[in-house]
Amino acid sequence: MDRKTSLQVHLVRNMAGCGRSGILTVILFLLSSSNMGIMLISSDAAEVSTTSDPSGLKTSVFLSPEIVMEPGSVANKFFDKADFPKGHIAVKDFSAEMVDESGASIPLHQLYVHHYLLIPCKQKKNYNTVISDLFTAGKQEKHHRLPECFTRAAKPGRCRYDNFLGGYGIGAELRRTPTRIPDPYGRVAGNPAEIMPGYEETWMLNVHVIDTRGVEDPVGCAECRCDLYNITDKITDDGRFYVGGYFCCEDEWRCRLIKNDDDQGAKWNHTRTSVYMKYTVKWVDWSPSVAPLRKYTLYVTDRCKVEYDVGPCKNNNAGEDDDDCTHTRRATVPVPKGGHVIYAAAHQHVGGMGMTLHKQDGRAICKSMPSYGRGTAPGDEAGYLVGMSACYPEPGSVAVSDGEMLTVESNYSSARLHTGVMGVFYILVADHPETTTTVQPTQHSLMME
Ligand SMILES: *[C@@H]1O[C@H](CO)[C@@H](O)[C@H](O)[C@H]1NC(C)=O
Ligand SMILES: *[C@@H]1O[C@H](CO)[C@@H](O)[C@H](O)[C@H]1NC(C)=O
Ligand SMILES: *[C@@H]1O[C@H](CO)[C@@H](O)[C@H](O)[C@H]1NC(C)=O
Repeated sequence: MDRKTSLQVHLVRNMAGCGRSGILTVILFLLSSSNMGIMLISSDAAEVSTTSDPSGLKTSVFLSPEIVMEPGSVANKFFDKADFPKGHIAVKDFSAEMVDESGASIPLHQLYVHHYLLIPCKQKKNYNTVISDLFTAGKQEKHHRLPECFTRAAKPGRCRYDNFLGGYGIGAELRRTPTRIPDPYGRVAGNPAEIMPGYEETWMLNVHVIDTRGVEDPVGCAECRCDLYNITDKITDDGRFYVGGYFCCEDEWRCRLIKNDDDQGAKWNHTRTSVYMKYTVKWVDWSPSVAPLRKYTLYVTDRCKVEYDVGPCKNNNAGEDDDDCTHTRRATVPVPKGGHVIYAAAHQHVGGMGMTLHKQDGRAICKSMPSYGRGTAPGDEAGYLVGMSACYPEPGSVAVSDGEMLTVESNYSSARLHTGVMGVFYILVADHPETTTTVQPTQHSLMME
């Protein structure tokens, strides 16, 4: 039994152990390795199990391919043709976390989750170009080379208004951010009407994690502080010194470790470990009773930049709690197509103090607040932002119109420097009931995330 198989068995045993009566358990050991000869890393990804409850809600658990980590190492991996439930379905919930070889959750203070993305692509059948190669070869502007995975720009060059990525994605707050979708709503996948002849829907998985065992400055490594990665001469597009962010912690780079002297050496264990992203999709078969949702990602930065830096504030004696050391950033961004907001939640990094989203007339849509861990258990790691609250407006109560300009506001503590932070709102929007018709492949459905 290889390690991967033993992990699957372990996970399945865990699930069987807490299975409730009435749940039909269908255990599938599907190793999706049919693409022999093509260098797809996903060939050892696996579906661990699919279970179904009497209401028809199915729960599928998947594992990413193995990712090997060492103290201080960064992995920013792209896997083509990741597993996802097949067929025309409506997703009711999506969650993920990082696990070790025994299937146990790994806490953020050992393995920081910078982000993951699982993106649907419309890929030509038998098309051998590996999407992830194109993705990693290019930077933001090269997304236009990937019409199968990224929507085309409505107005080329105006990034904030473009490229609404499809799929699912979140960062370190992945364990404590509500993600369920209330009835009768769902996020559609595998709609044959949206897939052109000769194409198929595939999923690209991107996992960016940082092994902070034994590092000198765990939060600095997590914030991709350039000096900790031995980068001292990076300049931004607009000519400023690049202190930290995504471009300082790329795949296989290393964050500075504690000097391995007698005192410090015992604090960490210089071992390689294999880690996996375990993701759980709850879904139902598509039926006309499902009201489809569109996802929009609203950035407080220019869409081209995504990240920004805050602090340190002038008052250097200030503690993290000092109210004077709040950095507020705002932006107004359009909703491409209106409807009823069914779900909203923000994404921030460590230092985040909450975000708000307002309608054009000033009324609040959502206030999403962070929670910080206080202990060591996965989901409660002291000093880390471990969750964001989500808003579930009463369906029909919060309407936005086509092109309405929403105000996104992001607060951070600026008591100390935070590099590469983000301020993003994800919203899920349903068509107005009066305009709901059968789903057609439209421009807008391509803009769905
Ligand atoms: C950083 O650079 C120093 C000096 O060149 C080198 O000794 C060290 O191994 C490097 N550290 C990392 C994490 O690459
Ligand atoms: C280091 O890791 C090995 C293998 O996982 C383990 O057996 C050992 O006990 C660990 N040592 C410490 C000091 O944690
Ligand atoms: C963000 O900060 C501003 C200004 O300090 C404040 O008015 C607003 O209520 C804050 N928002 C959140 C979500 O805390």
